[in-house]
Amino acid sequence: MKVDTAEFIRSAHGSGDYLRDGRPEIAFAGRSNVGKSSLLNRLLGRKSLARTSSTPGRTQAVNYFLVNRRFYFVDLPGYGYAKAGKEARREWAARVEGYFREEPPEAMVLLVDGKVGATPLDVQAYQYLSGLGAAIVVAATKIDQLPRGRWVQAVRGVREVLGLQETIPVIPVSARSGEGIKELWGVLSSRLAAR
Ligand code: GTP
Ligand code: MG
Repeated sequence: MKVDTAEFIRSAHGSGDYLRDGRPEIAFAGRSNVGKSSLLNRLLGRKSLARTSSTPGRTQAVNYFLVNRRFYFVDLPGYGYAKAGKEARREWAARVEGYFREEPPEAMVLLVDGKVGATPLDVQAYQYLSGLGAAIVVAATKIDQLPRGRWVQAVRGVREVLGLQETIPVIPVSARSGEGIKELWGVLSSRLAAR
């Protein structure tokens, strides 16, 4: 996909804030610090359109980016960072679940750390997300941290732990090296074309 324009549109903090203008949305979900904002930037070829940080919990709102004036990338706050207190966790759940409930996206990218593999929280998230009816693609992120010879095994592990249906692709990606970005765009483009 050639990205001609990519603009930050808005941050939504709760019910009533979510955008609805008929354009399709692709949402990025995953554990805090797994690399959602970085992957989104890499896909768009913009270094720091979405804020990233080595400190988990950087993205706190639901952030909308309009791509080629045609569809949205939606950057979501990550789930499950250790330091988050009960209150913060409740807020996360309210925000993200509110978004999904009020405005389920056309497609979802679920990010799982390629090196760490899928955690119990990822399994929970996958089960929750797959119940929403959005087409899911799984990205095994930070794959630059694993030697190429272990990618197949890593992908298989993610498939098994999440219990993925065969129709759901798992793509090894790296926002750092650019690995897998073309492949991921391929899947996302066809999902956009299919609607
Ligand atoms: P929250 O907004 O807190 O939910 O995090 P996030 O999922 O948006 O993660 P973010 O993109 O902010 O990246 C978290 C950290 O991981 C940063 O230090 C990034 O530099 C690093 N990171 C992101 N993608 C990659 C990657 O592909 N490879 C490597 N090695 N590091 C990465
Ligand atoms: Mg983020």
